[in-house]
Amino acid sequence: MKKITIAIDGFSSTGKSTLAKQLAKELEYVYVDTGAMYRAVAYFAMQHEFIGADFFDKAALIESLPKIQLEFRYNADLGFAEMYLNGENVEKPIRTIEVSSFVSKVAEVSEVRTKLVEQQQEMGTNKAIVMDGRDIGTVVFPNAELKIFMTASAETRAQRRFYELQQKGDNVSYEDVLKNVVERDYIDTHREDSPLIIADDAIEIDNSYLSREEQFAAVLELINDVV
Ligand code: C5P
Repeated sequence: MKKITIAIDGFSSTGKSTLAKQLAKELEYVYVDTGAMYRAVAYFAMQHEFIGADFFDKAALIESLPKIQLEFRYNADLGFAEMYLNGENVEKPIRTIEVSSFVSKVAEVSEVRTKLVEQQQEMGTNKAIVMDGRDIGTVVFPNAELKIFMTASAETRAQRRFYELQQKGDNVSYEDVLKNVVERDYIDTHREDSPLIIADDAIEIDNSYLSREEQFAAVLELINDVV
């Protein structure tokens, strides 16, 4: 069977990573969560006090970029790769609401995007990859054989993220999660460099009322048409 590149883009908390992981497992492809990379850079910026509630020292972050080493290491017990920042597993801290509140500002910085996009393109040189993010079908892999764009209402997405955070014991309110989702949507769709837009040749899936199984089956059918 022909190996292809699958790009999955869309708004936050649309279940992109769940679908991407399922596909990668089924097809024995590599899965790359590019949001984790932007989150790791945001976490680094927070740790170094380059960003906070009312400040963002972009110049300091840009200067420090060569010191940021990002790596995915496969965890066989989990069945997917985890994000490492300068040798440290940061899967847990990068998923907090605090990092979520800064990540889109960090992702607006062109120098950050250039560095991460280069690394993402390298990971895809051999195809057989499922990558999810915001600019995969438009910037990272404009020639991807299959492009999916996922949407759902902000409320549906906030409810999902709220439930996820609660499961992890994170003490946040639904209102705060919804506010974060709406804010990130705004920044992601309005930024100058690589805004979140649907690629001309992407297939849109609104999963507000679709189960995971239904989405998975629909996308597998699309893949069969391509390979
Ligand atoms: O996918 P996730 O919600 O974890 O992504 C976190 C943030 O990282 C997004 O809201 C967006 O600002 C940024 N991002 C991006 N480009 C990507 C992936 C994520 O700008 N390819």
